[in-house]
Amino acid sequence: MIRLEQFLESDCDPLIAVVPDARFLLQWAGPNYRHPLDATQLKRTLARAIGKQPSVKVFKAVLQTTSQVVGHIQLMNIDYDRECCRIGRVMIFPGHQGAGLGKEMVRLAVREAFDYLGLAEITLGVFDFNKAAIATYQRLGFEEYRLKIGAFTFRDEAWNLMEMRLINASLGHA
Ligand SMILES: CC(C)(COP(=O)(O)OP(=O)(O)OC[C@H]1O[C@@H](n2cnc3c(N)ncnc32)[C@H](O)[C@@H]1OP(=O)(O)O)[C@@H](O)C(=O)NCCC(=O)NCCS
Repeated sequence: MIRLEQFLESDCDPLIAVVPDARFLLQWAGPNYRHPLDATQLKRTLARAIGKQPSVKVFKAVLQTTSQVVGHIQLMNIDYDRECCRIGRVMIFPGHQGAGLGKEMVRLAVREAFDYLGLAEITLGVFDFNKAAIATYQRLGFEEYRLKIGAFTFRDEAWNLMEMRLINASLGHA
C-alpha cells in the first residue's frame, strides 16, 4: 500500500505543515528539532544523509496508488561498525492514521536497516503516553528495555521515555 522514497528538500514544507505545535514536535521528533520547525532544521538533517555511509536516512511514505505523501520516518545514528541505528521521527500524516500505514511504514524502515544496510539492532525512544506508537512498535517485535522517568520536560510536565529495541534475528544474534 505504501513505499518509502528518499525525502527531498521539496518535501520540507508539506512536512512542516503537519506539525501543529511545540508539544507535538517534541512527541514526534524529540528535542533536537526546535519549535517552530523550519526547512533549515530539516536541511541540516538532510546534509547528514549524503555520502556512502550516511549517518541518517530520511524517508517519506508514499501511497502506491496515488503517490500521495502520507508519512515520514528516519533511520538515525546509523553506526556501521556497531551495526545499529535508531528509528525516529515516525509520523503518519493526519487523516491517514489508524489504517495500518504506521505499521507498514515502520516495517519497511526495519527492512531497510536490517536487509539493505545489514544492521543487527534497532533502538528507538517513545514517550510512555504515546499508546498508538508503542502499539505500532510492539506489533513489529520491538521490546521495551528501559524506562527513563522524567527524561524530558515540556512546560511543567515531566515525560517518561520508553526505550525499545529490535534485534535482527536473521543474523543469529541472541
Ligand atoms: C504512531 C503512528 C505513526 C502510528 O501510525 P498509524 O498508521 O496510526 O498506526 P497503525 O494504523 O499502523 O496501527 C498500528 C497498531 O497500533 C494500534 N493503535 C493505533 N492507535 C492506537 C491507540 N490510540 N491506542 C492503542 N493502540 C493503537 C493499532 O490497533 C495497530 O495495532 P493492530 O495491528 O494490532 O491493530 C501515528 O499515530 C502518528 O503519526 N502519531 C503522531 C506522531 C508520533 O507520535 N509519532 C511517534 C513518535 S515515537
